[in-house]
Amino acid sequence: MSHSDYSIAVLISGNGSNLQAIIDATQSGRINGRVSAVISNRSDAFGLDRARQAGIANTILTSDEAIASYLADLSPQLIVLAGYMRILGAAFTRQFAGRLINIHPSLLPAYRGLDTHTRALAAGDTEHGCSVHFVTPELDAGPIIAQSIVPIAPEDTPESLQQKVQAAEHQLYPQVVAWLAAGRVKMLEEQVWFDQAPLRAPLQVPA
Ligand code: GAR
Repeated sequence: MSHSDYSIAVLISGNGSNLQAIIDATQSGRINGRVSAVISNRSDAFGLDRARQAGIANTILTSDEAIASYLADLSPQLIVLAGYMRILGAAFTRQFAGRLINIHPSLLPAYRGLDTHTRALAAGDTEHGCSVHFVTPELDAGPIIAQSIVPIAPEDTPESLQQKVQAAEHQLYPQVVAWLAAGRVKMLEEQVWFDQAPLRAPLQVPA
């Protein structure tokens, strides 16, 4: 596949800093592919400005049916959820199974759902981080591809921890997308494979 043939659609709801990290990695050649479309469920998402700035098609769609129909026409190789805060239904996740990934701000399976930084601090954890996983119908429960660990310092607040985790996300997500674009990561029967072998534990990407 030539550089521009691996097409990536990115779904966002907000700032889009992970979208930006992925765009930057396609432009630097770290990801052998291109972001072909950005879809937001919110018209005020700053990530839409990032898409416009990069000359990427962008659109606001708010139902699974509308998104599925748009993606069926676009037929991207990969659909990336990047700060996408709307829950996708089971029919949607099944339709795009194996081509749909998400980044979550915790070391899954710990802290599915919201307020992960506050919960990790309240639990007295010494480590936190982020995970990239294939999306399946159960929220934040799909097969985990890779994680980055972020140490928690005694003085950390939810805000400081969020900043550290986001910095780790901006390394982790482009790396995982690069592996997928290179054909090194796949999902077969809800199991992650890396370089033709089933993964026993999530890959670790240094934060
Ligand atoms: C990221 O930290 C991501 O992990 C989180 O939202 C943030 C989006 O930032 N996602 C979730 O909480 C998904 N449940 P961004 O818009 O700057 O990429």
